[in-house]
Amino acid sequence: MLNNQPVGIFDSGIGGLTVFRSIAEALPQYDYIYLGDNARAPYGNRSFKTIHQYTLECVEALFEMGCPLVILACNTASAKALRTIQQQDLKKNDPSKRVLGVIRPTAEVIGNYTRTKEIAVLGTKGTVQSGSYMLEIAKFFPDVVVHQQSCPLWVPLIENGEHDKPGADYFVKKYLDEALAKSQDIDTILLGCTHYPLLTQKIEAYLPDHIRVVSQGDIVAKSLVDYLQRHPEMENKLSRGGNRQFFTTTDDTPDFDHMAASFFPEPVTSSFIQVV
Ligand code: DGL
Repeated sequence: MLNNQPVGIFDSGIGGLTVFRSIAEALPQYDYIYLGDNARAPYGNRSFKTIHQYTLECVEALFEMGCPLVILACNTASAKALRTIQQQDLKKNDPSKRVLGVIRPTAEVIGNYTRTKEIAVLGTKGTVQSGSYMLEIAKFFPDVVVHQQSCPLWVPLIENGEHDKPGADYFVKKYLDEALAKSQDIDTILLGCTHYPLLTQKIEAYLPDHIRVVSQGDIVAKSLVDYLQRHPEMENKLSRGGNRQFFTTTDDTPDFDHMAASFFPEPVTSSFIQVV
């Protein structure tokens, strides 16, 4: 058995860091490897086949680095690739490994945030088209009406470091206006893409005060704490050194490090990885 068995955290780019930060706060004792597929981000507009292929390649790279458990800290990958990976790829390749997503844990609790029972889920095109949030939320909160809004330009703005610049305001307002036009009774906005918390300041500035913005980081972290309590066979495998390693598929690692730096107290030094 490998001595170093970190938790793997995957996203198409830097968005998963919004989840990793919460997980590292809740469970600082474990070792972690973060992998961002920045060279091929965004995933949001890509086909099912491509998202599955890219996600699987990254998950396999994390397995090869010793991770027995991988969190898809990406809604698009959770919506489009998770089920096939869980039901087909893992069975064939390595049934002892586990891959978890972010949609299910979010759907389990999101209904508790709304009083009007109407929420808007903002996500990538892929996540919205999959209808995953509608299906999953209906299982836990059948009385909650779910409106969906895709925000296809938000991830490119974030991946290019433009999210805190004045130019981003136009597209923040545009998609929020479109979302709120769907119903006057929406009181909760779920940021159903792990990149979107980077736009929280601007999003809140364009929303009326009575609308609550919910990010997934703490929700997913709490759900992982719970998962590891229920699965001691997995928890016992995980190595405990508090080490954090960062890998990115872009060869511009200083760019990744710069963007990642705002998430953690210590500087981030990432390494380039080729997953194909
Ligand atoms: N962070 C990913 C998500 O949660 C962004 C997907 C993309 O690359 O478009 O959906």
